[in-house]
Amino acid sequence: MKLFEIQILVFVALLFVCPLFVHGWGVDGHLTVCRIAQPRLSEAAANAVKDLLPASADDDLGSLCSWADRVKFHYPWSSPLHYIDTPDNLCTYLYSRDCKDENGTKDRCVAGAINNYTSQLLSYGKDAASQYNLTEALLFLAHFVGDIHQPLHVGFTSDKGGNTIDVHWYTRKTVLHHVWDDNIIETAEQRYDNSDVDELIDALQKNITAEWADKVKTWETCSSGKPPCPNVYASESIKAACNWAYKGVSENSVLEDDYFLTRLPIVNLRLAQGGVRLAAALNSIFG
Ligand SMILES: *[C@@H]1O[C@H](CO)[C@@H](O)[C@H](O)[C@H]1NC(C)=O
Ligand SMILES: *[C@@H]1O[C@H](CO)[C@@H](O)[C@H](O)[C@H]1NC(C)=O
Ligand SMILES: *[C@@H]1O[C@H](CO)[C@@H](O)[C@H](O)[C@H]1NC(C)=O
Ligand SMILES: *[C@@H]1O[C@H](CO)[C@@H](O)[C@H](O)[C@H]1NC(C)=O
Ligand SMILES: [Zn+2]
Repeated sequence: MKLFEIQILVFVALLFVCPLFVHGWGVDGHLTVCRIAQPRLSEAAANAVKDLLPASADDDLGSLCSWADRVKFHYPWSSPLHYIDTPDNLCTYLYSRDCKDENGTKDRCVAGAINNYTSQLLSYGKDAASQYNLTEALLFLAHFVGDIHQPLHVGFTSDKGGNTIDVHWYTRKTVLHHVWDDNIIETAEQRYDNSDVDELIDALQKNITAEWADKVKTWETCSSGKPPCPNVYASESIKAACNWAYKGVSENSVLEDDYFLTRLPIVNLRLAQGGVRLAAALNSIFG
């Protein structure tokens, strides 16, 4: 290979690993949500997922849980579907007020997308299914249920969910949004899990069956009908964004152990809830 061909390859590879604005958990966060969900599927849901996943995924939903982030360039219309911008400092979320893109087009936010792909997947096994690509619907839904649980996915409008707030994570420069997508998870993996995401997933699964066992039923249930209930998840996220993510942070804050140790339990909880609720949604859809 010529040197310049290698340079182009490296450049293209970098485009995929360093998107400027990442909206949503990083790769490990999404992988964790999907890996928690898949073993919780009913037989009917597990079969549908297996049927819809491409053969290359080898029946592993986790392997494609970040697919929706990788197709943002190819499907630019999908970018606003990863998050919700709420009014600055209000700390509330309302579908009718907030679920829109920057041009005010209704339903174009992560809650609208969860409703959209849920209703597409409900056509599975029926004639109407032929109008949709249900493989894509499954991959979008699995990803967006993760995204809506990342507190800064339901953040303030003017700072783009913490994307424009520069901070230091220990000694490294980053932005607040990225701290919640990746840095807290990475630091936890390094400290507690031998830098191995599988150990984090195991630890969360243990807590789902012990610590959180009596809460799991309420996570899985939607008071207003069948799962998923994205408006509930979004309201929880903006509350957590105000109470934990934004709290005490300003431009150029240095975030270290004080912040990490108090916020990690929130990140763990949101990953667990995301996984449990993704399974509940798929069980309800394919049940
Ligand atoms: C909003 O409108 C502008 C101008 O028409 C367009 O370039 C942009 O892509 C639109 N944004 C979205 C998210 O559709
Ligand atoms: C619904 O899904 C279709 C197919 O992927 C997509 O074109 C449309 O933009 C989606 N709308 C929302 C609000 O998710
Ligand atoms: C559905 O989407 C997947 C992923 O983008 C693609 O590989 C596949 O070809 C699509 N299927 C159809 C029938 O278009
Ligand atoms: C699991 O629960 C224990 C006890 O509350 C807690 O110390 C630990 O950090 C939790 N781990 C995860 C990954 O949630
Ligand atoms: Zn995303």
